[in-house]
Amino acid sequence: MKKKWWHDKVAYQIYPKSFLDTNGDGIGDLKGIISKLDYLKNLGIDIIWLSPIYQSPFVDQGYDISDYYKIAEEFGTMEEFDELLAETKKRGMYVLMDLVVNHCSDKHEWFQKALEDPYGKYAGYFHFVKGKDGKEPSNYRSYFGGSAWEPVPGTDLYYLHMFAKEQPDLNWENPELRKEIYKMINWWMDKGLAGFRIDAIINIKKDLSFPSFEPDGPDGLASCVKMVEEVQGVGEYLEDIKKNTFAKYDAFTVAEVFNMKDDELAEFIGDDGHFSTMFDFSAHVLAQGENGWYNSRKLSFIEWRDTVFASQKRMQSIGFPANIIENHDEPRGASRFLPEHAQNEEGKKMLATTSVLLYGIPFIYQGQEIGMTNCRRNDISEYDDISTKDQYQEALAAGCSREQALECCYENSRDNARTPMQWSRGKGAGFSDGTPWIALNPNYEQINVEEQESRPDSVLSYYKKLLALKKSPAYKEIFTYGKFVPAYEDQDGIFAFYRISEDEKEKILVTANYGKEACTLRLESRTGKILLSNTGAEDARDNEIRREGTITLESCETAVILLG
Ligand code: GLC
Ligand code: CA
Repeated sequence: MKKKWWHDKVAYQIYPKSFLDTNGDGIGDLKGIISKLDYLKNLGIDIIWLSPIYQSPFVDQGYDISDYYKIAEEFGTMEEFDELLAETKKRGMYVLMDLVVNHCSDKHEWFQKALEDPYGKYAGYFHFVKGKDGKEPSNYRSYFGGSAWEPVPGTDLYYLHMFAKEQPDLNWENPELRKEIYKMINWWMDKGLAGFRIDAIINIKKDLSFPSFEPDGPDGLASCVKMVEEVQGVGEYLEDIKKNTFAKYDAFTVAEVFNMKDDELAEFIGDDGHFSTMFDFSAHVLAQGENGWYNSRKLSFIEWRDTVFASQKRMQSIGFPANIIENHDEPRGASRFLPEHAQNEEGKKMLATTSVLLYGIPFIYQGQEIGMTNCRRNDISEYDDISTKDQYQEALAAGCSREQALECCYENSRDNARTPMQWSRGKGAGFSDGTPWIALNPNYEQINVEEQESRPDSVLSYYKKLLALKKSPAYKEIFTYGKFVPAYEDQDGIFAFYRISEDEKEKILVTANYGKEACTLRLESRTGKILLSNTGAEDARDNEIRREGTITLESCETAVILLG
């Protein structure tokens, strides 16, 4: 594998709306981000990904862009953005913007012009398609519910939207559209970005005959996931984008890709792949319900662990994955992946260890470093997210009670990750002096940065140690390029793996006990040494290794051991 500048870095996702508000309007802003760069640097972060900050009506929280060249007023100004870039450079940090080009906002000038002239140039930027027998051109269900087709007023045409109806899909078949997008990407790159996180990019390829599919729900529609799965040839677009934009800058690109065909991994993230890397969502889609949140399954520990292992093994022979436990679309990792008995600080440190030290580049999502959790709401009206509202209705329609439907939201809602960052136990959690745009998670009084900064055994302090270890001169190489090999797979409750140096001379064992009972693992030798642990009992563990050649992990204990 060709070595790249970003391989040994640690990335952090900021959801700007919920990060830090400096002017009391309840909405996080660029000034807030700038004021926390030292916090991030100190945590061990190199690369920052900003969820969309472009001008937007915020129907889908900024993933509906109405002007790609403007900063949303809510967040600040272009001058402030430039300042943010300059301030990150000063600190040796990098910025990624979010590239949302499968669709734009219905308020974008292109779409407005298309509506004015439904057979003109700008209609060709979108998918304006004639209906069939006075009905939609096909039976696709959009990701956010209901038909993916919306009538174009005053015509017998419909426009396609795979997401909300306010997010019309762009027509990538159109060379003029592609040119506009490339110009925009290059304009941002010229400002000095390190690259982009690329939204829903696999969706850009469509079968322009728009065939209907076998209905898969009581609404008689077929999920538009099917469109993505059935169509071939997205790679040509992806290469064209790369050639015309990213390649010229040696940009770092991390793609959001679902429903990729199995044999395409090398084309996507191999040495000369379309992207630098892509997120590994294999654990996140595991328990997904066939018809939505209401019939999602409970995930077993073994299934989760083995899925992560399988994915690691597959990825390492091909490319360099981006690893997450959560993001702005997913519930909080601590609430999702930790068994109930482990939903505490020690458990969160364990989850951090077995995620950050995997093979790949870790992306930490804001609040993860203090162990923020899902947030219970008492009524659907307390949710903001468009997808949550739809899933709630789906659950009711499928016969769930109100309580059951709310439980689905508690477990799955995208708002779980979107509650404001918990900076302190003070007013507004230190996030805002005003009324936050979305209600705080009430547990901010217990879980917040201020409290954890002053406590050496906090989750935050542990994240700092963990990232420092990963990036330390002595172990950076092995944690970046060392081979990933699963360990103790026959032990239920144990999440353990080796990282082995390229010359096989050095070997590190990462262990964690997700089980309820203590567990003793026999090591290969008696010469191991603990590099990091969440117990504060390193000496006792070192002694045990020397004396017995074993390590005993209490429930929720994690230890990183240098074997030698
Ligand atoms: C991606 C984003 C998500 C958004 C969707 C549509 O999945 O991460 O937040 O709703 O694309 O842009
Ligand atoms: Ca603000």
